[in-house]
Amino acid sequence: MTEQEFIPNTYTYTLENGSFKWSSPSNIALVKYWGKKEDQIPENPSISFTLNDCKTITTLSFVKREVSDSFSFDVFLEGQRKDDFKPKIETFFKRIENYLPFLKAYHFTIETSNTFPHSSGIASSASGMSALALCLMSIENVLSDEIITDGFFIKKASFLARLGSGSACRSLEGALIVWGENKTIEESSDLFGVKFPFQVHPDFRNYQDTILLVDKGEKQVSSTVGHSLMHNHPFAQERFKQAHTNLSKLTEILQEGNLDEFVALVESEALTLHAMMMTSMPYFILMKPNTVEIINKIWSFRQETGSKVCFTLDAGANVHVLYPEKETDKVLKFIKNELVAYCQNGHYICDKIGNGAKQL
Ligand code: DP6
Repeated sequence: MTEQEFIPNTYTYTLENGSFKWSSPSNIALVKYWGKKEDQIPENPSISFTLNDCKTITTLSFVKREVSDSFSFDVFLEGQRKDDFKPKIETFFKRIENYLPFLKAYHFTIETSNTFPHSSGIASSASGMSALALCLMSIENVLSDEIITDGFFIKKASFLARLGSGSACRSLEGALIVWGENKTIEESSDLFGVKFPFQVHPDFRNYQDTILLVDKGEKQVSSTVGHSLMHNHPFAQERFKQAHTNLSKLTEILQEGNLDEFVALVESEALTLHAMMMTSMPYFILMKPNTVEIINKIWSFRQETGSKVCFTLDAGANVHVLYPEKETDKVLKFIKNELVAYCQNGHYICDKIGNGAKQL
């Protein structure tokens, strides 16, 4: 598909006012998206687990107004006006205006809340942008006089979400989503996320993710700055190639149920992401001492017990602890006994693989 196919014909229906509500989850990448071209096109393909419990719930209310040449909207987080969210949404609206020509014909009220604490260091951009994109698609669905199939609805919502935040395009469905063209997944696209098309081994079903909150502060490096570090990065081209290879390998691993290879690939991806940040100019260390303590503890536990628990990281200090469902009791005990001490205020969040967004 091309961008052109997401530009609608002129609407003939009208809608005076109304509201739509969606919940959309966060996701955790196994092969990481790090580096992008213009228009939020990724430099390499990525794949993620959709989460179940960490999500954003957004109500989008709209009232018709005189069409003007600016956008009109208010944003609330947990009932509080959030004017500091406005620039990001304004940028999002500008990027998607061509694909949703009704945007300047309404005043919008965006009311949003997260199931995870705002100051947890968990990025809410994936869940937030995908929830908003879905609400906007619900409006288009009414306005459009063409029939919008469920398949097109999700594809376009993912396409729009990507223009808000790249990783957001992987949050709409579950349980594994691929974004970025690659030869292993035929239907993959740089424009939107697609479901992992192969049967996954039962060991990977209902996989668990316990998020250890090592540092709940604001991100030290914004994702925009982070991605731009890959421009002129001495290792960038090798890294982009490696992501393609890792996605192909992971595609096999997920089908065969090879947990040892899964552990090795996922941890290597997490450390490569951080290595890219450490070797860029300017350079950053986003792990904290406790991040490294946790990683070492996980390695010792695995060696001592034969567990298949592993970690992955986002562009920050928090640690996602991933493990098969059948190890839940054992790993949770280990987390409580040995890892909680490294979490800020002992905080952690138990999540698992989920099935994506829902209209409420
Ligand atoms: C490290 O999707 O937050 O989490 O497109 O600039 O909004 P923007 O970036 P964003 O980047 C996420 C990067 C990552 C890896 C990943 O989720 O694949």
